[in-house]
Amino acid sequence: MEKGEKIYEGKAKILYKTDNPDQLIQYFKDDATAFNAAKKGTVAEKGVMNNKISTKIFEFLESQGLPTHFVEHLNDREMLVKKVEIVLVEVIIRNRAAGSLCRLLGIEEGTKLSQPIFEFCYKRDDLGDPLINEDHILALSLATQEEIDTIKKYTHQVNDLMRKFFLNLNLELIDFKLEFGRHKGKIILADEISPDTCRLWEVGTGNKLDKDRFRHDLGNIEEAYQEVLTRVSK
Ligand code: TMP
Repeated sequence: MEKGEKIYEGKAKILYKTDNPDQLIQYFKDDATAFNAAKKGTVAEKGVMNNKISTKIFEFLESQGLPTHFVEHLNDREMLVKKVEIVLVEVIIRNRAAGSLCRLLGIEEGTKLSQPIFEFCYKRDDLGDPLINEDHILALSLATQEEIDTIKKYTHQVNDLMRKFFLNLNLELIDFKLEFGRHKGKIILADEISPDTCRLWEVGTGNKLDKDRFRHDLGNIEEAYQEVLTRVSK
């Protein structure tokens, strides 16, 4: 399979064409940004670790019947994915309060939630990915009602599956962000699932094993990602 021209470069990944018009190569960089790129840095080998972690999670979700863009792990920093048209909506589920929810509602980090909170954000870096609701999505034609319903159903399924998956590894899934794409008229899970896009706290110690170590300069970032990789690889 031939690697073709670069078609997109984001903050943490690059997409390249392949000789198959339906497939792209997703390349994982070591670059990290936070707070809408106000903070920038690199995390040694993050790309390699996130590629492996995402592979494990996509394989697990596919095995449970969830459609994803994942095709195969190619090498350290690259996976082969289906080419999709990205829906311009980011989906977040929160099982416990952290990050922007604490700022939004004035609650303590770690506050228990009596049920998961589902959020939509408009995928617009220039606006700082603002929180929106279904009316905004429909009024701006970002997705149809049918697509929204599918995205919500899949996201709740991913939450149920991933909570159990990580709990088996003694990790609590605090929250996560998903992106979806359109492929041959169907909604499928896209982007990546890694400690860049999930908050994971070790059960018992509450040790943070995710990008909050970078966001808040907590140290031992590489070790935290490596720990997640080691656990998901078991
Ligand atoms: P937040 O608390 O900063 O809104 O983040 C919620 C979850 O979404 C957290 O697991 C980190 C993830 N996330 C991303 O993957 N990309 C982003 O741009 C942001 C803001 C959050």
